Amino acid sequence: MTEATTHDVPQTIEAVRVWDPLVRVFHWGLVAAFATAWLTADELQPVHEVAGYAVAGLVAVRLVWGLVGSRYARFAQFLKRPGETLAYLGDMSRGRERRYLGHNPAGAAMIVALLVTLSGTAFTGWLMEEPDRLAMLPSMPAIVAPAWADDDGHEHGARGEDALEEIHETLANLLLLLAALHVGGVVLASLRHHENLARAMLTGDKRAPGPDDIA
Ligand code: HEM
Ligand code: HEM
Repeated sequence: MTEATTHDVPQTIEAVRVWDPLVRVFHWGLVAAFATAWLTADELQPVHEVAGYAVAGLVAVRLVWGLVGSRYARFAQFLKRPGETLAYLGDMSRGRERRYLGHNPAGAAMIVALLVTLSGTAFTGWLMEEPDRLAMLPSMPAIVAPAWADDDGHEHGARGEDALEEIHETLANLLLLLAALHVGGVVLASLRHHENLARAMLTGDKRAPGPDDIA
């Protein structure tokens, strides 16, 4: 930290690069694609599907980047054992959790939950779009109900398509819940450590770590 010498000169806080450009483009691209998929679901099917595939593509790139990317982009840097994550949550509840320069253990667990659920949502969407794709999977007796036709002659239940739609929608709803908790966590951590984490995800920079912080 550079000390200001007079009252007129604002203090400058040393910043360090944390999020590389790929992580930032991934994040805000994901937010845009996810929002588009949600807003167009059942309204504008071609756009819904393109947005869903964009989500899948972004997640796939991020998974590779988690192995070969920059320091704070790597899964090995931020994924912690359950014990450490629980200890962090315990510290949080007592208001004494330490500041992490990268993702904190609770945020990291949420990232895994988001990436898995996003993949499942996109995958079930892809399966649903073409019935033959479902037939390629190993038999799933639990979700394959007998087919029936409604008054308009539309077939339902054939090869588990209705069940698949249920799963797709349930995962999409779960994503909304996870995303809300995620944003809540971001706001909480921002308040606790007096820094704007959302802005850091835009600029890539965060306040340099202090002696008690985990870098
Ligand atoms: C406008 C609302 C959102 C804001 C302000 C926001 C903000 C952030 C911030 C600040 C981080 C970094 C957290 C840290 O410092 O450890 C982050 C990470 C992340 N967020 Fe969000 N987020 C938003 C919405 C979403 C949504 C809707 C999703 C997915 C459906 C999402 C998925 C992720 C993922 C996967 C990461 C990990 C980034 C990486 O390491 O690649 N976010 N978000
Ligand atoms: C993460 C990305 C995705 C999200 C968040 C999402 C979300 C949703 C939601 C909320 C619905 C329910 C609409 C309703 O009936 O009220 C839905 C339906 C559907 N989605 Fe997705 N979806 C995603 C990806 C995909 C993909 C990749 C495809 C196919 C390529 C797809 C195909 C469909 C289809 C066929 C329906 C049924 C539409 C209908 O009711 O006729 N989705 N999706």
